[in-house]
Formats: sequence, C-alpha cells, structure tokens
Amino acid sequence: MRLLVTGGCGFIGSNFIRHLLATRDDVIIVNLDKLTYAGNPLNLRDIEEKLGGSRYLFVRGDIADSCLVESILRDQAIDAVVNFAAETHVDRSIADPAPFLTTNVMGTQVLLEVARRVGLARFVHVSTDEVYGALGPEGKFVETTPLAPNSPYSASKASADMLCRAYFKTYGLPVLVTRCSNNYGPYQFPEKLIPLMIMKARSDEALPVYGDGMQVRDWIHVLDHCRGVELALMKGTPGEVYNFGSDNEKANIEVVRTLLAILGKPESLIRHVTDRPGHDRRYAMGFEYARKALGFTPEISFADGLAATVAWYRDNEAWLESVQSGAYRDFMDAWYGDRR
Ligand code: NAD
Ligand code: DAU
Repeated sequence: MRLLVTGGCGFIGSNFIRHLLATRDDVIIVNLDKLTYAGNPLNLRDIEEKLGGSRYLFVRGDIADSCLVESILRDQAIDAVVNFAAETHVDRSIADPAPFLTTNVMGTQVLLEVARRVGLARFVHVSTDEVYGALGPEGKFVETTPLAPNSPYSASKASADMLCRAYFKTYGLPVLVTRCSNNYGPYQFPEKLIPLMIMKARSDEALPVYGDGMQVRDWIHVLDHCRGVELALMKGTPGEVYNFGSDNEKANIEVVRTLLAILGKPESLIRHVTDRPGHDRRYAMGFEYARKALGFTPEISFADGLAATVAWYRDNEAWLESVQSGAYRDFMDAWYGDRR
C-alpha cells in the first residue's frame, strides 16, 4: 500500500509513521508536512536515514496547496491518505483562530477535493473527541453524540468532520473519520499538558494548572491511538466514524500530582492559574463500536505509559531544547503571563 500521511512530522503523525514502517513491510509512505512550529523533521531522522528514498519520502508543503497535493497523489500512485495535519493547540486557537480555519477546514477541503478528482480509494481523517463538546459528571461520548464544539480549535475540527461527511454523501468519496481522546507519549510538543508539566517540574519551575484542575480527560497512549488509526485504515467502512479512547479518565490535578510523584518533586510546585476561556469540563470516550467493528483495544496502562513517557523526556533533553524556538517562547510568555 502506498500511503500519503499528512502532518507526519508532528506528535501523532511521527509515531504513526514509525509504527507502520516497523510493523508492515508492504507499506510505502510519503509524508507531507508544512513544518509549522509543531512539526519537526528530527522526529523521523532515523527513519529518513534507514528508509529514505525506498519506503519513506518526506515532502515539505501545505495540505492547502492543491497542485502539490495532486502531483503527490498522481506521481506517487497513492492508494490512501491519512490526514493528521492540523493546528492542534486549543490555547493558541483562543489567542488566534485564523490559522486553525485555514489548515483544519480549508486544508482538509483541499485534500478531499483532490482525492475526489483523482478517484482516491481510501481517506482516513483523524479527528478528536473535542468536537462533541463537554460532558457533565456522567456518561460518555459515542459516535452519534451531536457535535457541540466549544473552542475555535474544536469548531475547526468539527467543520472538517462535516466536510468529510459531505464528500462521502455527495460524491461517494470513501472517507472515514476517527475521533480520539487526549494522547500522551514520546515526541509530544511541550505546549500540551503532560510534556509541559514534565519539563517544568524537571527544572523546578511552577506548574500552571488551569482553574481548580478538576477538568477530566480520558488519556490514551499515542501508540494505542496509532493502532486504532491503522485498524480504521485497513478495516474501516467508508462513511463511518470511529471513536478511540482508553477508559482512563483523570482529573488534570491528579495527572500533575502523579507526574510530580514519578519525578520525585514536591506538590508545592503546583500553581493554580486563571482558567482557559470556554474550558471543557469533562471528556470520556465510548469506543464500543471501534471495539466490535475493528477489534480495537487499548493495550498500554496509564501507569506504564506515563512512566515510559517521563523516561523518554529525561533521555531526550536535546530534542526538548531543539523544539523551543523563539516564537514558541514568545507565545508561552504571553499566554502564561496573562494567567498569573
Ligand atoms: P501536532 O501539532 O503535534 O502536529 C501537527 C503536524 O501537522 C505538524 O507536524 C505540523 O507541521 C503539521 N501541519 C500543520 N499545518 C499543516 C499544513 N497546513 N500542511 C501540512 N502540514 C501541516 O499535532 P498532533 O497532536 O500530532 O495531532 C495530529 C492530529 O490528531 C490532529 O489532526 C489533531 O486534531 C488530532 N488529534 C490529536 C489528539 C491529541 O491528543 N494530540 C487527540 C485526538 C486527535
Ligand atoms: O481531547 C483531544 C485533544 O487533546 C486534541 O484534539 C488536541 O489537539 C490536544 O491539544 C488536546 O487538547 P486539550 O486542550 O485537552 O490538551 P492540553 O494538553 O492543552 O490540555 C489538557 C488539559 O490540561 C486541559 O483540561 C487543559 C489543562 N491544562 C493545559 C495546559 C497546557 C492546564 O491545566 N495547564 C496547562 O498549562
């Protein structure tokens, strides 16, 4: 199978490419990535060295560039697209929504349109539980839960999901959508909760917890998510939506305390700061449909996954240093400066 993976230099995309090339001899991957602040070719340097030019090809470019996308799909005889490319950070979407619409909505539409034009056989669009909005204290999201996004990020992802639906219904494009809960693991950019807290705790800086820290997320190891996307790619039915989660609901404050315990750091580092506007209180994913239809089962426990993740960041300080550009530091200073 010849695959176009978009956003493959980001957190989940790079783990997905690494996983697929390690486990399937029959897969050849073209990775199209714009290399925004969150995209890092270092995430796949070893793959480039081992498989570059044979089973792996990197193309720097934008999913919203229809000429480029069309030439890749035709020249590389691509069988399927897996779309990870996106602006992904909720806080940034609050500070400046425009790039989220450009990439997540318009970029996805360009991919769908070019896929339709060339008669692509399969398209997997990677989405998020955030399109469902927030839950009260009980219940879980299922695939039929109405979409009710609350942030500019989740609104842009929900719009893309609706475009996928429209391209399936209107044109019969064989597109399916996956929606996953919060991922953690290696190569996650240190603007997201878990790597940010690990990084700050390691250097004895204050850990900024939004509001009371009782917001709940359903944490899944990135490799379990990648296996889910792989199952959807290989076995999923076009037009369907598949939820992935890990039955692992944790309040943010509990996650932060667990990280401090693993690192042997004091809880006095925790600082409760001004909450994120529109902050969703609770997410929990019901993934019975993916379990039955695809055979999806998360395999990595939170205790093992979190300990391995802390160890990965400890062993990869150079990576952590290399991804912190001036623009990253400027955003972090401005955002957290306003939340003291
Ligand atoms: P990330 O921010 O780490 O990586 C995004 C990648 O997309 C980067 O490499 C970036 O350079 C690339 N990109 C951005 N705009 C692009 C464009 N216009 N053209 C080409 N490439 C572009 O994101 P992630 O956490 O790996 O998320 C990947 C996907 O999974 C996203 O679609 C996200 O919505 C979805 N998702 C993420 C999570 C999570 O917990 N991180 C959970 C569920 C779903
Ligand atoms: O649920 C899936 C989504 O998970 C993905 O679609 C998004 O791309 C991904 O960024 C993530 O969104 P969240 O907003 O849930 O992730 P984040 O790591 O930014 O925050 C996790 C929780 O931690 C959230 O409740 C906000 C809180 N938080 C986050 C940061 C960065 C803090 O309390 N302090 C912080 O400094």
